Order: sequence, then C-alpha cells, then structure tokens
Amino acid sequence: MRIAVARETSPGERRVALVPENVARLVKQQHELRVERGAGVAAGFPDQAYEAAGAALADGPAALEGAEVVVRVQRPSEAEADLLPQGALLVALLAPHQGGPLLARLAARRVSALAMEKVPRTTRAQSMDALSSQATLAGYKAVLVGANALPRILPMMTTAAGTLAPAKAFVVGAGVAGLQAIATARRLGAVVSAFDVRPVVKEQVQSLGASFVEVQEVAAEGAGGYAKELGASEQERVLGAIAAHVKDMDLVVTTAQIPGRPAPRLLTADMIRSMRPGSVVVDLAAESGGNCELTRPGEVVVEAGVTVLGPLNLPSTVPFHASQMYGRNVTTLLQHLAKDGRLVLDPQDEITGAMLVVHDGQVRG
Ligand code: NAI
Repeated sequence: MRIAVARETSPGERRVALVPENVARLVKQQHELRVERGAGVAAGFPDQAYEAAGAALADGPAALEGAEVVVRVQRPSEAEADLLPQGALLVALLAPHQGGPLLARLAARRVSALAMEKVPRTTRAQSMDALSSQATLAGYKAVLVGANALPRILPMMTTAAGTLAPAKAFVVGAGVAGLQAIATARRLGAVVSAFDVRPVVKEQVQSLGASFVEVQEVAAEGAGGYAKELGASEQERVLGAIAAHVKDMDLVVTTAQIPGRPAPRLLTADMIRSMRPGSVVVDLAAESGGNCELTRPGEVVVEAGVTVLGPLNLPSTVPFHASQMYGRNVTTLLQHLAKDGRLVLDPQDEITGAMLVVHDGQVRG
C-alpha cells in the first residue's frame, strides 16, 4: 500500500499519526511510506528519523500525491480534504458526531474514511483502540495539571519544619482516563477516592489503592460496558453523595462521559462554592459540555477561590508518547486492512465496518 503521513495543522495539535518505528515496521512489510516534511517535529520525531526508517519525505500536498491511504491525527480542514487523492482512504480521529460538511465533501471526492473513534471495543481490536490510548494519557496529565494549579503539594511530608498532610483527590468517572488519574494521583502521594455509576468499577478502583464512594442503588451499565444516563432519582442520590464528598477535597478530576450524549452534570456551582478556597477541579469532559456547571472549555474559571480547569486535547501536550501510542493503533489497523499487501476495505468486516464513516460516495450512518 502507498501510505502518506500528513502534517497536522489544527491549532495546538502536536501529535503525528505514525512515528518512525511504525514506518520501519510497515516498510518491512513492503508498504511504501511518504511523510510530509516536518510532520513529526512537534512530537519529537525529526524528518531524518523517518528517512532512516525508510520513508520518502515530501513537501506539502506533494506528500499525498498517489497515496492509497492518508493517515492523520485530526480531521482535515475542508481545503485539506480537497487535496486528498480521489478514491483514497483517510484514517483519522474524524469526530464523526461533530457533523459539518466534511464527510459529505469526502464522499463527493469518493474518498473513503475510517474514524479512529469508532474502533469497536473488543479484545480483537484492543491494539487499535485510539480512544483508550489517548484517554490513558489524558487521565495522567489531568492530575499533573491539577497538581500544578494547587497551592499545596500532594504527598504527605514529614520534615523538621513540620508534617504536611497529603492532599485529598477525588476522581469522578473511573473509565480509562479516570483509572489512570487515580493511579497517577496515588503515585504522587494523594489520598484518592473515586466514584462511577458502573458497579464493576469498584474493585478496579480499590485495587489501585483508592476508596470507592458508594451511592445506594445506583447501577447504570448499558450496552458494550459503557454507562447509560441516570434516572431522575438516581441522579439526585448521586449529586447528594458527590455534594457531601467534594466539600473536603483538594483536587477533583472529572472524566464522566456517556457515549453519544452530552457529559453528565455532576458538579454544580453550589458544590464548587462549598469547597475550600485553593481547591482545584480539572474537568476532562470539557469538550463534551463538561461535568462541572462552571467549566468553560479551554479556560480557567475561578469561583469563590476554587479553580475550575477545562483543558482541551491533553494528549497533545504529551505528543511524543501520544503519537507513539496512536501510531501503534494506526499501524495495527493498517495491517488489518492489508490483505496480501493490498488495501482491502470490507464493510462486512466487524472492525472495518464499524469504523467506515464514508464509503462508495456515501456518508454512512
Ligand atoms: P467513557 O469515556 O465513555 O466514560 C468515562 C467513565 O464515566 C465511565 O467509566 C462511565 O461509567 C463514567 N460515567 C458515566 N456517567 C457517569 C456518572 N453520572 N457519574 C459517574 N461516572 C459516570 O468510558 P471509557 O473510559 O472510554 O470506557 C468505559 C469502559 O468501556 C471501560 O472501563 C471498559 O469497561 C470498556 N472498555 C473496553 C475496552 C475493550 O474491551 N477493548 C477498551 C476500552 C474500554
């Protein structure tokens, strides 16, 4: 397959879709790799490393010429979409739920597109699961961002100048990002508690050395192991438990999401005002509406001395490892698509079919 790696142009995006190690592996499997000059620089992968791995370098649009597959991190702009070779396959985090004219434009150019968000969450597809790989890093980084904004340190410290009590951290939503946030806060020495509406998570939380905040008769596990929306009385009990718990917290990291729905509202303005001045909330759900009523995506809000952070695209702030993991996800997918060295897009395949959002001139539902 002729595979092209495009340079990212979205503001603030520092990741790259394949790293030199992935290129070397694909070249070894007889694929032809072309990389847009400078594509990996912001992530710490210079052009020479791609060349050494066996890729050809090209400037701007020339990198895409003749490509059968174009790999990216973010969805392309419409102008970039128009530069994709007719009939090519685009692989990226396409944010298909975001709508807009992009997918129709791809369809009109007879470009097929696989959305990396739509990798099925099955054991077979686990190594292609970009949502998990990137959420892991987001959970880790959220704790560092929060720790950095706190006027106190996380670990207990006994010194000649006195003993400092450890910070109390609370993680709401213990999925992929939340579990990594718990592990990171624990490593930094905080006393950690967590809550999730899926009861199966309790044991995972406890095995990481955190305590689980119990709410009577709340169990909202839906299809595919994901959470579903809570009923009114469950929601009331959850909010009551969170309100009682957050008062005493120094750092709160929220990660709660329901696929295809706006993020559940779990921290009200009143709860924020009940917290101690100097406390910090990091809302990882900022991009889908926020778990906290006061979150403003990409901004810092201070209310009654409590700082509420709504960071965007945290994986891009650790672009080296984020690219390494995303690159591995993309490489495994490309290997899945190559049959005897040739690209085969089979809409009936359980992985390809689930990810295929544009094919045969049509946007698929
Ligand atoms: P997510 O990003 O959709 O949600 C994050 C967390 O928020 C989830 O744990 C969810 O239960 C929780 N949540 C939703 N509403 C909430 C509320 N009102 N209060 C508190 N918490 C709430 O989920 P994520 O992290 O992408 O994955 C969730 C689960 O999917 C995983 O824990 C796992 O069981 C499954 N999964 C399976 C994979 C596989 O089999 N290959 C790969 C990745 C995830």
